Amino acid sequence: MRLVLGLDLGTSGLKAVALDEQGQKVAEARAVYPLHTPRPGWTEQDPLDWARAAQEALKALRGQLGQAEMVGLGLSGQMHGAVFLDKAGAPLAPAPLWNDQRTAREVAEIEAAIPCEELIRRTGNPAVTGFQLPKLLWLRNQHPELFRRVYKVLLPKDYLAHALTGAWASEYSDASGVGALNLATRRWDPEILQSLGLSEGLFPELGPSERVVGTLSPAWAQATGLPAGLPVVAGAGDNAAAALGLGVSRYRKGVGSVSLGTSGVIFLPLEEPTPEPQGRVHLFAHADGGYHLLGVTLSAAGSLEWLRGLFPEVGLEALLKEAEQVPLGSEGLYFLPFLAGERSPYLNPYLRGAFLGLSLAHKRGHLVRSVLEGVALSLGEVYQVMRPLAEAQRLLATGGGAASDLWLSLLSGALGMPVVRVTGDEGAARGAGILALVGAGVYEGLREALQATAPAELAVPGAQAEISGLQPGYVQAVEMLLRRYSQQ
Ligand code: XUL
Repeated sequence: MRLVLGLDLGTSGLKAVALDEQGQKVAEARAVYPLHTPRPGWTEQDPLDWARAAQEALKALRGQLGQAEMVGLGLSGQMHGAVFLDKAGAPLAPAPLWNDQRTAREVAEIEAAIPCEELIRRTGNPAVTGFQLPKLLWLRNQHPELFRRVYKVLLPKDYLAHALTGAWASEYSDASGVGALNLATRRWDPEILQSLGLSEGLFPELGPSERVVGTLSPAWAQATGLPAGLPVVAGAGDNAAAALGLGVSRYRKGVGSVSLGTSGVIFLPLEEPTPEPQGRVHLFAHADGGYHLLGVTLSAAGSLEWLRGLFPEVGLEALLKEAEQVPLGSEGLYFLPFLAGERSPYLNPYLRGAFLGLSLAHKRGHLVRSVLEGVALSLGEVYQVMRPLAEAQRLLATGGGAASDLWLSLLSGALGMPVVRVTGDEGAARGAGILALVGAGVYEGLREALQATAPAELAVPGAQAEISGLQPGYVQAVEMLLRRYSQQ
């Protein structure tokens, strides 16, 4: 039996899976590492922790696989992080992550150097605090002595590829989250880099997602038990990889995905790099040779998790049961999910959340239900912005929150289309494995691999809730908050 491995470098931990040729999971291993928040708004991880976790998980995975023939390994990971490396490949500093907010000054620096519309036209996005480019400028501003020693800046999963193989390489999906990739030419944009005084040589060379960037080094082979020389495939950013795992690509028209994880994400494939003119949702390269829109509600299941934490004596299931007893509309209570600022469609790190319309009649179940409704309505607003560019007929649901029938039914009502689950959802690690199937030559191309591995869809029980009627009240409430928390 020929197997591939897929590895996803997440924010709370790393997941590695082994897949057979049909994309079925035959083994899985996980490893965790800490997240550091040394100052408010800063989030960092130690790249050496990632490498240790990758070794631990790959070794555990190898231990479960007996005599099977392994033909490739694919990578996926959290996007946007900055791993500053010297020429020997040693990290020079902790890596600031995708949700780090330290770069307000550097975002202003980028906006002063390149007009916002121009940046959106070239890269698909405005300057965003979480992206990699402002992080590199932050290092130059705050630690010039370290900046001078930077040989390359890599994205998190590309750092792992370097550790595994020695390659300095990336691919288009993750690279489009740096903030300096020209989406039309698929090259680091020379004008953007020049106007910021950065050399193109600081960034890795680029290629497609299924490209073999190198082979497993003897040291890693010894540490994990995997064969030296195992082809390592570039892979994809976690959203693009998760979409491939669900079978969402340019080859399947009208199908997108929605993830209810800590953040809520709508992913819609696109043929051409057409940005949302105001940059209210992201435009990135997909791992299928095309592009995709990505709308992000920063606190989705994160909002529910926050509320659950306020009632430690009650389990999540009991809370969701209470919410089911409450009528649609939560009897006039609205929840605005901006607990950590917002990305789409209001790019504003200063925005804050609210319960609006509280009365003495409201009980705990109302709070829970209004959180589910508020997140669904927020994603509804995100979709309104995406729709003129990429309309979908249905969305495939993923992430922890997708386990709730009530939530998916509300979401389906807010988006005005069916939201369904799939079988065997293994997240981004599965997409990384599928890319390895292509890179290792098991399939002729990605289209064939996606056809052979597409998961089955499962309809969600329960009628589509008529939630769309709540949208005007929700939008009014958002407008109030936008006035209160305008950009500072
Ligand atoms: C996407 C984004 C997140 C990270 C988290 O723009 O910031 O989805 O990729 O893993």
